[in-house]
Amino acid sequence: MKKTQLLRVTHLEQDRETIDTAARILRQGGIVAIPTETVYGLAADATNPQAVAEIFAAKGRPADNPLIVHIPYLDQLKDLVTRIPPEVEPLARRFWPGPLTLVLPKSDRVPLITSGGLDTVAVRIPAHPVARAVLDRAGVPLAAPSANRSGSPSPTTATHCQDDLWNRVDAILDGGECQVGVESTVLSLCTPVPTLLRPGAVTLEQLQEVLGEVMVDPGVLQHLGDDAQAHSPGMKYTHYSPRAQVILVRGDAEQYGEYLAREQQDGDYAMCFEEDIPFLDLPLVSYGSRTDHLRQAHELFDVLRMVDKLEAKRVFVHAPDPQGVGLAVYNRLIRAAGFLVVELGTDPPPPGEPQ
Ligand code: TXA
Ligand code: MG
Repeated sequence: MKKTQLLRVTHLEQDRETIDTAARILRQGGIVAIPTETVYGLAADATNPQAVAEIFAAKGRPADNPLIVHIPYLDQLKDLVTRIPPEVEPLARRFWPGPLTLVLPKSDRVPLITSGGLDTVAVRIPAHPVARAVLDRAGVPLAAPSANRSGSPSPTTATHCQDDLWNRVDAILDGGECQVGVESTVLSLCTPVPTLLRPGAVTLEQLQEVLGEVMVDPGVLQHLGDDAQAHSPGMKYTHYSPRAQVILVRGDAEQYGEYLAREQQDGDYAMCFEEDIPFLDLPLVSYGSRTDHLRQAHELFDVLRMVDKLEAKRVFVHAPDPQGVGLAVYNRLIRAAGFLVVELGTDPPPPGEPQ
């Protein structure tokens, strides 16, 4: 067992020593939960196989699920990859630093344990000032998956990290709440056509503006069995699951309200939009307005953790519209629900979903 240090950064300029402490632990092969603009990451030196092994152990993460490697500046990308495809330049100009991860051909600098045995590596340049300061001071690329126990909702506050990883990591660096709230968009540039592996705050529509054609990997919205050849190995695992059973419900506010009036039992909660509240007569938590996908993304994981604190038995989630950042919210919820979706309305299916 480790003894976790809780570190806190409130003012980057005044808290330089705290950043140095986190960076020193990382340089010495330790593991530290750090804030990013998407979710908290559990960081280690991406080039140190022993340190990376500690990430897998602390999270209870399957060894074939690769990690994202974080760097502070674009000029460090060339060390991690064997080739920089032409799409990188316009994508980096528009979206980096920020919530976009690119899958690229891996160089020998990245150990196989970091890439889950693959010959590709996922790379991101984060925007969060604390993450950037730690990267700068550590002076090594940092592998960082989301800082939750494998399978549970990703952490968007230092408290979430403490709940999952206390005395399993060397330090937790509290930098406040994450702004985006869902993990980065993952785009593979190792496929014949750029392929969206995981939707995030950089939207499919925005990627299409820059690249023209973008494929959506089937795993974004469908269940891939254990032995499916998932392009993104992470997508085949159960994810984001609270202990409560999650059921995703598609339809309008009235249909959702009528359905719940028929179905509801003791221990049920509605995870709903603000607009639904007048139609509901059961315990509820709202995760924003139906049209405000950014707010839904920001609230999502906190609300999924909250329903467990409330000891909900079942949570009926009103499904977001799968456009823009809504696709990212939908993608996480459909996994939280184990792909259990109740169709009440005539909404068009999300992109890439079988009819
Ligand atoms: O926003 C984020 O991306 C956060 C912060 C900390 O940066 N990190 C994060 O990491 O969400 P993680 O490990 O929870 O999710 C990484 C996803 C997984 O689904 C993994 O399978 C996929 O990216 N991935 C990583 N490397 C890959 C590769 N070489 N090829 C395909 N998918 C890859
Ligand atoms: Mg994760």
